Amino acid sequence: MDPTPTWTDEQWYAADLASVAGVERLRFFPQVVASGSGSVLTTPEGREVIDLSASWTATGMGHAHPAVVAAAELALRRAPGGSVLSGTHPDAVRLARALCERVEVVAPVADRRAYLGHAGTDANDVALRAARHATGRPGIVAFEGGYHGGLGGSQSVSGIHIAAGTTADADLTLVPYPDLYRPWQGDADTLLANTLKRVEGVLADGQVAAVIVEPIQSDGGVLVPPEGFLARLREATQQHGTLLIVDEVKVGLGRTGHFLAHQVEDVVPDLVTLGKVLGNGLPISALVGPAPALDEPAASALMTTIGNPVSCAAALAVLDLLADGTLATSAAAQGDVAATTLETYASSDAAGAAWVGQIRGRGLSLGLELVHPGSQEPADDLVAKTVLAGWQRGVVAYPVRGNVIEITPPLTITPDELQTGLERLVAALDAAVSGEVSDADVAAFTGW
Ligand SMILES: Cc1ncc(COP(=O)(O)O)c(C=O)c1O
Repeated sequence: MDPTPTWTDEQWYAADLASVAGVERLRFFPQVVASGSGSVLTTPEGREVIDLSASWTATGMGHAHPAVVAAAELALRRAPGGSVLSGTHPDAVRLARALCERVEVVAPVADRRAYLGHAGTDANDVALRAARHATGRPGIVAFEGGYHGGLGGSQSVSGIHIAAGTTADADLTLVPYPDLYRPWQGDADTLLANTLKRVEGVLADGQVAAVIVEPIQSDGGVLVPPEGFLARLREATQQHGTLLIVDEVKVGLGRTGHFLAHQVEDVVPDLVTLGKVLGNGLPISALVGPAPALDEPAASALMTTIGNPVSCAAALAVLDLLADGTLATSAAAQGDVAATTLETYASSDAAGAAWVGQIRGRGLSLGLELVHPGSQEPADDLVAKTVLAGWQRGVVAYPVRGNVIEITPPLTITPDELQTGLERLVAALDAAVSGEVSDADVAAFTGW
């Protein structure tokens, strides 16, 4: 193999555009990263940047976490070619058992199974198929603005993709997610009641296999639903013989202050999907559910490297890191501090303060919604300019739903790094408001 060229950041980015397929790009600024450690990323030229995204939460334990690196290195040297397809290996079995023990679903531990996949996309796809197979029903209920995956079945139930033109699953009904900032109806109580009424109206025909829901709708704008939403969904699905799939791919595993985000309410789902941080950057996902749903039919969700030993070893290390709950507790505390920092900025006389519509979230899953001053009109352009100015100032944060900046740093971020990252972000907002970034600067980045 040729040695890695010593190019500038700009040269690397240009070479990427000329070689990596556009279908897998979701770009907001010319990000090139050569290495990372904890919450700090380093570009090929050696510029250090604070990561307030954790690669969309996938490196939630921090980049190159030593425990994950050690586990993966060891597995890589042993027999990296194994999988659970036509044989098994100890780390896959250990991981499946750990997941069955730690992720509560309607079946007792001994009757739970864990599917080990590659990405949130396939975990959700398999969850939908398992639900349809187990119930013999075709229907799926999902939520407008939801994101469950970027291919196939998961994509075709994702409100975001459907709004952008992807063909919806033929048996899908989309219901508005209860957005407290922009309620589709009434106050929190009315919103909750009417959202549930809409869901129950669909479930009533007895043809719905599953409701799939994010406990916090992340890509849809970091929407935290009103209290009781998940519990009421659970009741409604149980009443109608419909399975409840909780998609924990983005916000699960400690980020919200709970091991799983839905545990904020007393809810036991039928199926739970995990991904992203499960491998701390290595490709692995999981789906936990009752044996009858996930054992049958055999050989119906196959990929050659599922349950790959390197990814399984990384995932075991991640579960170990989360085991005593310290990271989840600190995520909750750090999230409160971050929200207060942003609130203080929003009530200051800084240039961008008047553009802050709402700061919301739970733990280290936060959203900063920007709107035109004095209104709720989304300020998508300003968000695009802010994240670009942020990159130039040394912080990575991405937009979701156009006008919301998502803040999901590694759970291991230090208080100083978090503070500095947020200072850079609001400085970027001020700069964007002051006209530092032009329309032409952001036009090169297609974003969502
Ligand atoms: C809630 C949720 N589910 C599923 C997915 C899909 O995961 P992946 O991109 O790993 O396939 C995502 C990705 O953003 C997500 O946010």
